[in-house]
Amino acid sequence: MTRSPGKIIYLDHAATSFPKTEKVKEAVLEHFIKYSASPGRSGHSLSLAASRALFEAREAIAAFFHVDDSRKVIFTRNVTESLNLAIHGMVREGDRVITTSMEHNSVMRPLRYLEERGLIQLTVVPSSPEGFADIPGLARAVQAQNPRLLVVNHASNVTGTLVDLERIAGIKGSACLLVDGAQTAGSIPIHLDSLDVDLFAFTGHKALQGPQGTGGLILKTGEEPLLPLMQGGTGSHSEFEQQPDFLPDRFESGTPNGCGFAGLAAGIGVVEERGVPAIREHEKTLTKRLLEALLTMDRVHILGPRDPDKQTAVVSLQVDRMSPSEVGFQLDREFDICVRTGLHCAPAAHRTIGSFPQGTVRLSLGMTNSMDDVDAAIEALQWIISR
Ligand code: ALA
Repeated sequence: MTRSPGKIIYLDHAATSFPKTEKVKEAVLEHFIKYSASPGRSGHSLSLAASRALFEAREAIAAFFHVDDSRKVIFTRNVTESLNLAIHGMVREGDRVITTSMEHNSVMRPLRYLEERGLIQLTVVPSSPEGFADIPGLARAVQAQNPRLLVVNHASNVTGTLVDLERIAGIKGSACLLVDGAQTAGSIPIHLDSLDVDLFAFTGHKALQGPQGTGGLILKTGEEPLLPLMQGGTGSHSEFEQQPDFLPDRFESGTPNGCGFAGLAAGIGVVEERGVPAIREHEKTLTKRLLEALLTMDRVHILGPRDPDKQTAVVSLQVDRMSPSEVGFQLDREFDICVRTGLHCAPAAHRTIGSFPQGTVRLSLGMTNSMDDVDAAIEALQWIISR
């Protein structure tokens, strides 16, 4: 087969998007070089410029997700921190929590940690073998248990399976609905103004095209009984030894990742310029082509919905008589194609879809991929399985 020497084909966007666009690189560098002072602290011109950059990033995120007040956007380092803030901050001793079996360890581990310490009662409702949430099952569990928290992802990082958030919101009762938007923010339109989601966790470094070390938690009202993960300096109300009570300072202590959030604002600009619906259509077209080709290949088994309308641009597969890591190694070494193999930090999801403990080969496409990239991956897989 033909391949361009030295050209890396990056199909690991579910882990982190790459390469970042020039605009993002420029924004990070400009902040770093010109005004990377401490925002909200010192009052000099550089500190004010850093504060403004942070404010603009917060405003850009609020507008992007259709949130009326940017103070409801809490900055974190990544979606794991956002989910930990939401989970540890919302639950109290004796609470019940309900989640699905398709969650990532960034949800499962904090929940299991609280469960093992006898602080919460956790119910994990099994999803279908394609990764679909069992919404009637979740509704029954909610009715029976009156949980404090209901946690679901918007899409699985293993199979891309999308969850119908409107239906989930319809069955949540009085529970606080926490959504893990790691896999959809930037690639699927999300209108938080018309969705009854209480807490929405996102990361900046995936489809939002921002740098690593950026993420956030969006609050629905700002009145949630959410406790902070950390206390410390905020630059505000410095006369008090107690944490300020107002947003976002209540949850944001310590010097933030100013360069990172400047980059994230630029990333969101790039996404908005192209348009999330157009990105979604592009990714669906690529996913369709990939799925159609994989379905014709002997020895290849696709896990998940096998339907671009029902999943993100994530495709997990197994190859008979080869381990996922062997396939991934050959894609990398022979073809410079980057994919992720194994369990993708989501063991419960693999138990659900039947790929535990070996895991899968995961190809995850992004807005910067082309049909040529998909065709190269198809040819490479054909070559690997024909040997
Ligand atoms: N959660 C990320 C992934 O699925 C890192 O690869």
